[in-house]
Amino acid sequence: MKRTTLRSIVAALIAFAATSSATALGVKLPQETAMYQPSTLPGYALALQNCMTCHSAQYVSTQPVTSSRTYWEATVKKMKKPFGAPLKDEDIPAIVDYLVKTYGAEKGEGVSSTVKK
Ligand code: HEC
Repeated sequence: MKRTTLRSIVAALIAFAATSSATALGVKLPQETAMYQPSTLPGYALALQNCMTCHSAQYVSTQPVTSSRTYWEATVKKMKKPFGAPLKDEDIPAIVDYLVKTYGAEKGEGVSSTVKK
């Protein structure tokens, strides 16, 4: 009687371990990191047009959330020169605005649920 109970517990544990490791193997990274986050800001469309030819949005989404407007501006300008992105100078401020509000220090600006420090 006791032995049977122990055996079934062991069997259950083995089954559990097998299921959970199978689940762990099935975990996938979210797809959205490769795409620019949709936004009503005009820079969103410009980012889609100008910022996907050489790399995905992965580089943008992995930048620290504390990145300032100045940082984003320097980054976008660096994409133009020396990297060679065919960006129009007049489009840069809108793209920077979108980036800093979507991925950087001004993230959640105007969203009441966002806690600011
Ligand atoms: C002409 C090709 C090209 C275009 C277009 C381009 N990039 Fe890049 N980007 C690069 C290269 C090259 C790197 C550096 C990759 C590396 O270091 O491995 C890079 C890296 C980055 C990084 C990582 C941080 C860093 O400073 O290296 C960010 C953020 C980034 N790009 C954002 C953008 C944004 C925003 C746009 C649109 C305005 C854009 N890129 C358009 C070529 C480009």
